[in-house]
Amino acid sequence: MRKVEIEVNGQKASGDVEPRVLLVHFLRENLGLTGTHVGCDTSSCGACTVLLDGVSVKSCTIFAVQADGGKVTTIEGIGSAQALHPMQEAFWAEHGLQCGFCTPGMIISAIDLLQRNPQPTDAEIREGISGNICRCTGYENIVKAVNAAARAIKNNEPRRSVRELLPPKPEKVGA
Ligand code: FES
Ligand code: FES
Repeated sequence: MRKVEIEVNGQKASGDVEPRVLLVHFLRENLGLTGTHVGCDTSSCGACTVLLDGVSVKSCTIFAVQADGGKVTTIEGIGSAQALHPMQEAFWAEHGLQCGFCTPGMIISAIDLLQRNPQPTDAEIREGISGNICRCTGYENIVKAVNAAARAIKNNEPRRSVRELLPPKPEKVGA
């Protein structure tokens, strides 16, 4: 067993792991961060994408011990129900998901893209998310969502809560 210490979503996390344990399994099973998904065993789907030291990686392609001493950001760390990340809000607003299985990895890859290229073209967005497979959406609304997030970040729009985005409750009849 090897001891690893990784800063995950701003918190120190440590554990004793076998050297063969993948980062994705350390995140999901040791830390309970199940927002990072496992969608394949061929390193091709991208559902497991996280940021490692600020750069997107497929967490099924590296061992937990390789991330020792590093900083990992998972989907749980980019926003909250009280203050969504602009990319989360944009996926919501533009219907950039259906089943949602690919969405955590897709959002992390899109955030990484905007860090490198804040105003990408549609073609650049498609290239940027080309390591992430979505079986539901046909990608059109994902591209719209990434464009919307790029505009929101450029305009420095405030983060909103889930409650603010929900439609108002209908008034009770007879109330
Ligand atoms: Fe499919 Fe990592 S689980 S690329
Ligand atoms: Fe279902 Fe992408 S929304 S796989």
